[in-house]
Amino acid sequence: MVRLEQVDPEIAKALRAETERQARNLELIASENFVSEAVLEAMGSVMTNKYAEGYPGRRYYGGCEVVDIAEELAIARAKELFGCEHANVQPHSGSQANMAVYFTLLKPGDTVLGPNLSHGGHLTMGSPVNFSGKFYTIVPYGVRKDTELIDFDQVRDLARQHRPKLIIAGGSAFPRAIEFKPFREIADEVGAALMADIAHPAGLVAANLHPSPIPYADFTTTTTHKTLRGPRGGMVMCRGAHAQALDKVVMPGVQGGPLMHIIAAKAVAFKEALTPQWREYQHQIVKNARALAEALIAREYRLVSGGTDTHLMLVDLTNRGITGKDAQETLDRAWITVNKNTIPFETRSPMVTSGIRIGTPAVTTRGMKEPEMVRIAALIDRVLTNLGNASVEAAVRGEVQELTSKFPLYPERLK
Ligand SMILES: Cc1ncc(COP(=O)(O)O)c(C=O)c1O
Repeated sequence: MVRLEQVDPEIAKALRAETERQARNLELIASENFVSEAVLEAMGSVMTNKYAEGYPGRRYYGGCEVVDIAEELAIARAKELFGCEHANVQPHSGSQANMAVYFTLLKPGDTVLGPNLSHGGHLTMGSPVNFSGKFYTIVPYGVRKDTELIDFDQVRDLARQHRPKLIIAGGSAFPRAIEFKPFREIADEVGAALMADIAHPAGLVAANLHPSPIPYADFTTTTTHKTLRGPRGGMVMCRGAHAQALDKVVMPGVQGGPLMHIIAAKAVAFKEALTPQWREYQHQIVKNARALAEALIAREYRLVSGGTDTHLMLVDLTNRGITGKDAQETLDRAWITVNKNTIPFETRSPMVTSGIRIGTPAVTTRGMKEPEMVRIAALIDRVLTNLGNASVEAAVRGEVQELTSKFPLYPERLK
């Protein structure tokens, strides 16, 4: 930081303030995590300087013999971690990973059967403001009203009726494990391809704590920065038979030069993920999510689907008479970070919402366990039952700081 402070004191100050905020607050956004110092070191490395369009051993530019080592390691480790035949580690993000699969399989106007956004889907699964919704004919499926679990009868009926070219399984706000076999059966019946997006539960999938789509899906996409705890980025996995077509779409189809420093950091994160300690960490994420869910239910919060099998839960605040937006804002002022989220059969706009999404990957990375989850539920409850009360927010800020200080984050950066 010394050099950065001299060259650009304003950015150095912002970086320090963000490090302090991350260390001080309770981070409960389900899609966020804290990477290791080793991952950060690879990201902040000289590999950012290298243009390497193409793939290892087949680059457009000279001087790629060293970055090839990083990409080959990332690919080999991804294959070992997920048991897939082929991995493309170049997508800059989860959105570009999904785009690469759509461009591999579809033409503009083709029909895609994907999860309804307000039932847990992601923007890239057909939002009208996203390329997916603009380029393709989207047919959304949802969850059942009684169980709030995926309605496979509806998926089958819609598939028979619309004969999609692609069916998507996965999303951003499904608190329950997703079974991929029934999706495969439906896809086979109507002659569709199946894409699984495991951006959220990827870490759990790698640790065998969530069903794996690899045996069933033609393509599996993920981000590398959520439960996987790697650098911000994306990845696509597929069978060997699709490898060439996919690679051609990722580059030159939708991207130019790969981010080699990020690919090196992906390799580091995958190496970490192949250790027993990392599997134990994934296990603790799930145990923590269950403990937090139970503690919230005990305080009479309604959880969508009644609980969680994964790293996240969706709290429906309707019975508390507050909106997701208000809850997010008051919790933010108490240094507890969550995001407002639509719930199935939502009646409010996505900017307001009836729910909040809560996840445990980041607090688990800090070393927190079940007792801390019970305490976090109590803090959330105190803030939400005193909505907008500044003195309660201030008191909870103090308790949050006391709790987080026991689980230091990036201590050497805060010296
Ligand atoms: C299921 C799912 N797919 C794709 C993405 C997109 O990832 P990115 O933000 O890296 O583009 C997300 C991000 O939240 C996601 O939850």
